[in-house]
Amino acid sequence: MRMVDIIAKKRDGEALTKEEIDFFVEGYTNDEIPDYQVSSLMMAMFFNDMNDEERANLTMAMVASGDQIDLSEIEGVKVDKHSTGGVGDTTTLVLAPLVAALDVPVAKMSGRGLGHTGGTIDKLEAVEGFHVEISEREFTDIVNRDKVAVIGQSGNLTPADKKLYALRDVTATVNSIPLIASSIMSKKIAAGADAIVLDVKVGDGAFMKTEEDAAELASAMVSIGNNVGRNTMAIISSMEEPLGRAIGNALEVQEAIETLRGEGPRDLTELSLELGSQMVVLGGKAETLEEAREKLQGAIEDGSALEKFKVFLENQGGDASIVDDTGRLPQAKFKFEVESTEAGYVEEIGSEAMGVASSMLGAGRQTKDDEIDLAVGLMLNKKVGDRVEAGDSLVTIYSNTEAVEAVKTKILDNYKIGGEEKDIPLIRKVITE
Ligand code: URA
Ligand code: CA
Repeated sequence: MRMVDIIAKKRDGEALTKEEIDFFVEGYTNDEIPDYQVSSLMMAMFFNDMNDEERANLTMAMVASGDQIDLSEIEGVKVDKHSTGGVGDTTTLVLAPLVAALDVPVAKMSGRGLGHTGGTIDKLEAVEGFHVEISEREFTDIVNRDKVAVIGQSGNLTPADKKLYALRDVTATVNSIPLIASSIMSKKIAAGADAIVLDVKVGDGAFMKTEEDAAELASAMVSIGNNVGRNTMAIISSMEEPLGRAIGNALEVQEAIETLRGEGPRDLTELSLELGSQMVVLGGKAETLEEAREKLQGAIEDGSALEKFKVFLENQGGDASIVDDTGRLPQAKFKFEVESTEAGYVEEIGSEAMGVASSMLGAGRQTKDDEIDLAVGLMLNKKVGDRVEAGDSLVTIYSNTEAVEAVKTKILDNYKIGGEEKDIPLIRKVITE
């Protein structure tokens, strides 16, 4: 087989066979095929697309390029949730204990944040002592006993995706639905999920800016999952404003605790219940979404979800007393209010800008080796649709420095106050096929 023939075939709009896809993925991973040929193929794929079979084959070729996590010793259907990335997206912290409280096993492998959004591990490390460096043996035992654990990314997962993603980044071929879909799905499948719930974000703070694009990406990922034997569904949810009120590591842990107590922000609670219901049904612990939702609400009301969060933290060395006393979480030295200069209704909050503002305070990383400040971040006091008077606090800044002028300006510039009482629908679509 020759790489040049594979490139020509895709250039001419033909479908590649499984053997051809395996050939180039393996050859590229092993440094036997040069960047320039793979770049050319990526560009041909960008323009000429791939059919469902090619997408599934590309995904599985990337899965096969490295280690695969074997979760077979864990009892039950392992349902993983994946978000395409949002600002202040606290759902994983809420969902892990919440669905585990209904005996759906949560065996999560998670990463750290890069850029303007935080990663789940960073957030959890705001709890003193909590660590994700546990052995696979411990991980399995904990999940079998208590249904929830998070382990740091280990091993050599999907090296083909790492190389291809880096190449696409510098050849203007990132933004292709089949390539994005196979990239994301390969990582979930290699991490061992039996079933996958996808939260595809749409809007200002998201990768996909329009609902059409988000729906296309979601359908592509759902097809791949179902074609390779993983029950997969997707929800398209709004990132037109940050999710909930808290952005920042310790602040989001506190927000998750409030939500598990039934006192969380409306949007975060709603999205958690929606995603959680899908996870519970896929995990076989409820027949219908309605039944699943009732059970989840029950676990919040009777305290079992919050209790599960404590057990989860303790199992991994964390100080569970923060649940009853959130004052024990890392605290910022300073608090500053960002006051509105006008009266009206909040019409828009730039999600990405809020993520960047939080990052400027030290909550996020610019490069992967940066230290982050777990205590700092933003608390949104006003969300879209809220009434505001001049002088009202829009946002509270939690900071460890007094130099927050640039952060204040960024926030004020990205809060649009107007005359209209707007409402942003949170859940846009559910895609099951
Ligand atoms: N995220 C991924 O993991 N892969 C892509 O190709 C794009 C976004
Ligand atoms: Ca939040």
